[in-house]
Parts: sequence; structure tokens; C-alpha cells
Amino acid sequence: MFYSAIRNILFQFDPETIHELTIKGLKSTGSTPLNFAYKQQVANKPVQVMGIHFPNPCGLAAGLDKNGECINAFDAMGFGFVEVGTVTPRPQPGNDKPRIFRLPEANAVINRMGFNNKGVDYLVDQVRKAKFKGVLGINIGKNKDTPDDNAKDDYIYCMRKVYNFASYITVNISSPNTPGLRSLQYGEALNELLSALKAEQTSLANQYDKYVPIAVKIAPDLSEEEVKSIAECLITNEIDGVIATNTTLSRDAVAHLEHGNEAGGLSGAPVKDLSTQVIRLLATALDDKLPIIGVGGISCGEDAKEKIAAGAKLVQVYTGFIYQGPELIKDIVKAL
Ligand SMILES: Cc1cc2nc3c(=O)[nH]c(=O)nc-3n(C[C@H](O)[C@H](O)[C@H](O)COP(=O)(O)O)c2cc1C
Repeated sequence: MFYSAIRNILFQFDPETIHELTIKGLKSTGSTPLNFAYKQQVANKPVQVMGIHFPNPCGLAAGLDKNGECINAFDAMGFGFVEVGTVTPRPQPGNDKPRIFRLPEANAVINRMGFNNKGVDYLVDQVRKAKFKGVLGINIGKNKDTPDDNAKDDYIYCMRKVYNFASYITVNISSPNTPGLRSLQYGEALNELLSALKAEQTSLANQYDKYVPIAVKIAPDLSEEEVKSIAECLITNEIDGVIATNTTLSRDAVAHLEHGNEAGGLSGAPVKDLSTQVIRLLATALDDKLPIIGVGGISCGEDAKEKIAAGAKLVQVYTGFIYQGPELIKDIVKAL
């Protein structure tokens, strides 16, 4: 009720301006008594996934808190886990603005941010300052100007930097807004990347005497054969989890709407079924060998249940959270 009133005001303004103001507000209040404005009690529904204890199965998806500046604020809202990033080795500005568009008629967003972020060192500094005791995912990517052939080096660089601060590390190879990134999802390129990351994980686990799971985040725009082949590669390389899915390039549901043909990734309600279908295919192909984190178009408890029924063990939200506010977390946890 409260959020829908402020949302009507917020939605009068440019999406990125509002995003930046919100991040500033949450950053400055997250660990102060002023967090009463959004702090809430969410039911305890513990789950054990990737060897990690989650207080509840509803997490914040990557991309909202790219620099890890508001971890305590999202914790106060009751998320069972918070995923920050995508972060790259060096800071980068991302694509030209405007680069984020609301499609309110479809409860959707199109973005082509292009991994704008302040770099991995800044993020690690924020994580240290947060002193967060909950479950923290750190999502890593590559810089735009790193040649595709050297992508692996960027992931390894970030992995070394974040390893000791993350509950799990997400390898994002599915953003549609970094040219060439999605090609890492296929064939030998995927196998080479995952085997290198697995070897690095083994060495870091020895160094820190702690095992930090790796999850790979994939796109919804994959054929059945492609999903099967990704699943095989995840199993072969003993990856710990898979996050399905990122945003879609499809415009079928929104092409007729204002901003419906903007370039970038579409999220929210129109990606829901595509994402659920990928989860279903993954669940069959993975046969419980590794867990699935379901994300894409969840905007109520029922949507979250659908993801779990399709085979996910945990869920994440982004666009639904923008439209529904913190109340959505409660609805989801209650439904699961
Ligand atoms: C504005 C925006 C920025 C995003 N940035 C990232 C990102 O940096 N890394 C990432 O893995 N996913 C990113 N995502 C994708 C979300 O994490 C999520 O996978 C996708 O939006 C589908 O979920 P949703 O329908 O609940 O939004 C972004 C999504 C949006 C809307």
C-alpha cells in the first residue's frame, strides 16, 4: 500500500535517476535506525543449497546493487540472500544513456546498462564495510574492452579478489549488453572457461581453507539442445549451481508497446515463462546433480512457486521488486 503510493511518484521520473537516488538513500540508511522505512520481518523458511544455509529462499537478483553499496538495506528488507554485481576488474561507465526503460503496461523493463560499475576493488571495499553476516552472492563479469579471447582472465581476476568475501560467486555469461559475452555459453568456450574457474576455485579453497561455491548464470534465449549441452558441461566441471535466467532478447510480448523495441535485455513478466521453461529443461538434464536458482518475471508468491515446481531450489527477484516493493519478499516467502 505504502510502496504503491511512492512508486506512482517515483515512476514520474527518469528510471536511472530514480535508481541512483534510491541507491544513495539505501546506502546512507541501511545500517542506521532510518532503515525503519523499509525494514520488515520476514518468516523464517530455512533452506540448505550449495552447502549454504539460507534463512529463506528469496534473494535479490544481480544488477540492482552493482557496487555492493546497499547490502545492509536489502538485508533489513528480509531478503534471504543478496547478490551484488555484476562487477568487472576495472571500473567502466557502461553504455550511453538513456539505457533503461520501463514498460509499465507489461510490468517489464528493458535495459542495456552494459556492466556500468566502479570495479571489483571498490565492491570488495563496500562488502568489507557492510560487515554483513548473511548470504552474499558476488556476480562477476568481464570488461567491455577485454578481448573475448581473454575473457577468462577477467573472471579469474575477479574471482581471486572476491573469493574471501562471498558466500557464493556467480559467473555471468548471459548479459546481452556486453558484445560477445553470451558466446561463452557454448561448446568448447564454455568448457575452457569452467575448467579454468574450477581449477582456480580448488586453489583458492586451499589458500583460504574455505570452499566458496560457483554458480553460472545463463540466458533464457537457448534451445533445448543448448540447455542440455550447458547442463552436461556444468556437471562435467563440477560447478556448484546454475542461475536461470538473465534477461531476454525476445520482444514478442512487448513489440507493440512504447519502448518495446529498445535494444537490450527484457525483464519482468514477459520473461517469466521463458525462464521457467529453461529451468524445467535444466532440471531434467541436471537430474539433481546441482541446484537451480530460478529468476525471471517473478511478481507474486504464485510465480515463485511455479519456479520451484519447475525445479528451482531458490528464487531471485529484480523487476517484480521494482514494481511491487519489499512487500513482494514477504509474499514470496509466505507462498513457498
Ligand atoms: C536494470 C537491470 C540491470 C541488470 N543488471 C544485471 C547484472 O549486472 N548482472 C546480472 O547477472 N543480471 C543483471 N540483470 C538481470 C537480473 O538479475 C535478472 O536475471 C533478470 O532481470 C530477470 O529477472 P526479473 O524478471 O525478476 O528482473 C539486470 C536486470 C535489470 C532489469
